Amino acid sequence: MKAIQVKEPGNLQVVEMEAPEIIHPSEVKIRMKVMGICGSDMHILHGENPFASYPRVIGHEVAGEIVEIGEEVTALKVGDKVVIEPMTSCGECYACQQGRPNVCEKVEVYGVHREGGGRETMVMPESLVHKVDESLDWKEIALIEPFTIGAQSIYRGQVQEGDHVFIIGAGPIGLCCLKMAKQAGAKVAISDINEKRLAFAERWGADDLINPQQENVEEQVSRWTSGMGANVVIDAVGLPQTVEQAIAVTSVAARVVLLGFDQKFSEIAQVGITKKELTICGSRLQTHRFGPVVEMFNSQQLHVEDLVSHQYDLNEAKEAFQLMEEAHPEVRKVIIKL
Ligand SMILES: NC(=O)c1ccc[n+]([C@@H]2O[C@H](COP(=O)([O-])OP(=O)(O)OC[C@H]3O[C@@H](n4cnc5c(N)ncnc54)[C@H](O)[C@@H]3O)[C@@H](O)[C@H]2O)c1
Ligand SMILES: [Zn+2]
Ligand SMILES: [Zn+2]
Repeated sequence: MKAIQVKEPGNLQVVEMEAPEIIHPSEVKIRMKVMGICGSDMHILHGENPFASYPRVIGHEVAGEIVEIGEEVTALKVGDKVVIEPMTSCGECYACQQGRPNVCEKVEVYGVHREGGGRETMVMPESLVHKVDESLDWKEIALIEPFTIGAQSIYRGQVQEGDHVFIIGAGPIGLCCLKMAKQAGAKVAISDINEKRLAFAERWGADDLINPQQENVEEQVSRWTSGMGANVVIDAVGLPQTVEQAIAVTSVAARVVLLGFDQKFSEIAQVGITKKELTICGSRLQTHRFGPVVEMFNSQQLHVEDLVSHQYDLNEAKEAFQLMEEAHPEVRKVIIKL
C-alpha cells in the first residue's frame, strides 16, 4: 500500500509499505479514503512537534470504508463509511479517571505519536471508529475531526444561547469554533488579518468581523457588546499577544479558552482575572465529542463542505503540502484523496 510519510523533518514522501492486517478480534480494517491536512501535520513536517518521532505516517483527520471486521466486532460492518477518532489513553491516570482521556499522561495521537491514517489501509480498534451516514461525501467526512476540536472549545467555554463569543483567528479551527458556537445559539464576532478568511467567516454566519490590522480589537469588541465585553473568548491563533488580548476583551464572569501550543510567555495582570472572576482554560483534542459531531453531520445541519478549498490525489501529496506551505490567503482546508 501507499502511505504519506515524513521520513525526517523537511522530507515528505509517498512511500510503499506493507498493508496492516487484523490481529485482535475487536479490530477493523479500513480502506482509507480521505485525509485533511492540519497545521500540526505541517509542524511535524518542519520538525517542530516535540511529540513526533520519525519516520512517521501522518494523518489524523482521516476517514474511510470498512473492508474487513474482526470476530468480536459488533457495531460495524463491511461497507460502512467511518471516521477515525485518532487518540488513545491509558485509562488509569488522574485525567482518565476524571473522564478526560484527551489529557491523559500517556495520550497518543495517531499520526503524531503513532502511525496515522494518511495511507491506503489502516487497522483500528472498533472503539476508535465511528460510523457516519451513507449520504455524506468524503469531503465532508474529512471535516469531522477538526469539528470535534471546535466542539471541545465550545464545551470548555460553556457557550450558552445568547452569549457574545469572540473568536480570535478564522483559520480552519477558528471557523469550526464559529460554526459550533452559532449552533449553540451564540452571537459570534471573529478576527483575522486575512480578509479572505473574514469574508468566508461572514458567509458562515459571523455577526461581526474584526481585522486587528485595521481596527482596535478591544474597542471593537466593546462596541459590539455595548460595553459589556465578550462572555466567551476563544483564542484560535495562540500567540502571546492574542492570549493577552483574549483576557483584555472579556466581560465579567467570562470564560477564556486557549487552543495554542506556543511556549512564549504572555504578560497578564492578575487583577483583571480576579476582579471579573474569569475562567481561563485550555482545550486540547476532544473528549466524547465524536458522537454529537457525527450526529450533527448526519442530520445535515451544518453545510460545511465549502471549508475545503483544495483537493489532491494521494500521488500529489507533496503538491498539497507545498500549497499549505505557501499559505495563500484563499487556502482553507486542503484534503488528500487516499
Ligand atoms: N488545542 C487543540 O486541540 C488544537 C487542535 C488543532 C489546532 N490547534 C491550534 O489552533 C490554532 C489554529 O489552528 P488553524 O489550523 O486554524 O491555524 P491557521 O494558521 O490556519 O489559522 C490561524 C489564523 O489566525 C490568523 N491570525 C494570525 N494572527 C492573528 C491575530 N493577531 N489576530 C487574529 N487572527 C490572526 C491567521 O491569519 C490565520 O488565518 C493553532 O495555534 C493550532 O496549533 C489546537
Ligand atoms: Zn488536525
Ligand atoms: Zn491516562
